[in-house]
Amino acid sequence: MKRSDVKRVAVMGLGKMGVDWVANLLEGGYEVIGFDALPAARERAPGALAKGLGWIAKKRHPEESDFVDNATARFSVVDSEDAFAAELESCQVLLEVIFEDLDLKCEVLARVVPRLPEGGMVWTNTSSLSVHTMGVASGRPELFVGTHGMNPVYQMPAVEVVRHRDLAEATLALTVEILEGIGKSPFVASDVSGFWVNKHLVPFMLEAMRALERGGDHGRGRRRRPQGQSRPPAGRVQAVGFHRRRHHVPGVVGDVPADPGSPALSTRDPRPDVQERRARGQDGQGFLRVGRLQAGRGA
Ligand SMILES: NC(=O)c1ccc[n+]([C@@H]2O[C@H](COP(=O)([O-])OP(=O)(O)OC[C@H]3O[C@@H](n4cnc5c(N)ncnc54)[C@H](O)[C@@H]3O)[C@@H](O)[C@H]2O)c1
Repeated sequence: MKRSDVKRVAVMGLGKMGVDWVANLLEGGYEVIGFDALPAARERAPGALAKGLGWIAKKRHPEESDFVDNATARFSVVDSEDAFAAELESCQVLLEVIFEDLDLKCEVLARVVPRLPEGGMVWTNTSSLSVHTMGVASGRPELFVGTHGMNPVYQMPAVEVVRHRDLAEATLALTVEILEGIGKSPFVASDVSGFWVNKHLVPFMLEAMRALERGGDHGRGRRRRPQGQSRPPAGRVQAVGFHRRRHHVPGVVGDVPADPGSPALSTRDPRPDVQERRARGQDGQGFLRVGRLQAGRGA
């Protein structure tokens, strides 16, 4: 299959991520058919989609007065899995965006994927589950890819494209090409729990939570922080980055000795570090740069 053969995408699961993906796919010119098992989610979907498309229209298509109407006209929702499975027969890609539950995903994929035409690809928006396991359950692991979008999908360009041992290279390349075609910045990650993003992010956030539980120099949050009290750890960590966190958040890594001679940590102002980081070219664009390198487009 070539990118130009892909015209119609089926999205299963119209929750937060599903609807946001729909907005991005419609922006990319695709026809989209959606389904959610919950009637309330199906009812909520048009309103959530209108919000997403409104944002996209304002930020990226200000000259196109009919952008939202044109995009909305290419979206429809069905109200049963049987109807969705019937629609799959004329789709080239199925994007699964249901609950993060491996058994559920495997069960549902095993049921619906056989209805996709031969050669049809399957994407899963899992945050951390085994893509290979789901690929095997779907019956077509060579055509099964993880596409972990960031929230909100239509605002965040990065997408982790998860490669596993039975994935065909042609499927991976086509997925990357389609995603780039709708304005995303995909980068390839391995099929390990948490892939790249959550493998780093989750321990980082857990540490911040433990610091809050332990107490210490972290303030009480932005609104309630008394004048002069230091910034809360999560915000401070975000501002300065991984390599600096132990300087600014001693509660987070209290068991790690500071560098010899480092100043009193709890009172240090993070702003010079942010400036230094920017001067060294650390601008928060890391994922995107890796993606561009992988796609052979230079940094
Ligand atoms: N929310 C995030 O920030 C985020 C970020 C990255 C990845 N993800 C991943 O995306 C996926 C979806 O997350 P979400 O935040 O959109 O969840 P959500 O709960 O908002 O939406 C999931 C939707 O799937 C529907 N669903 C469940 N079983 C179904 C079935 N058998 N058939 C059809 N629809 C079904 C539910 O009714 C629900 O509306 C998960 O795998 C999650 O880990 C979420």
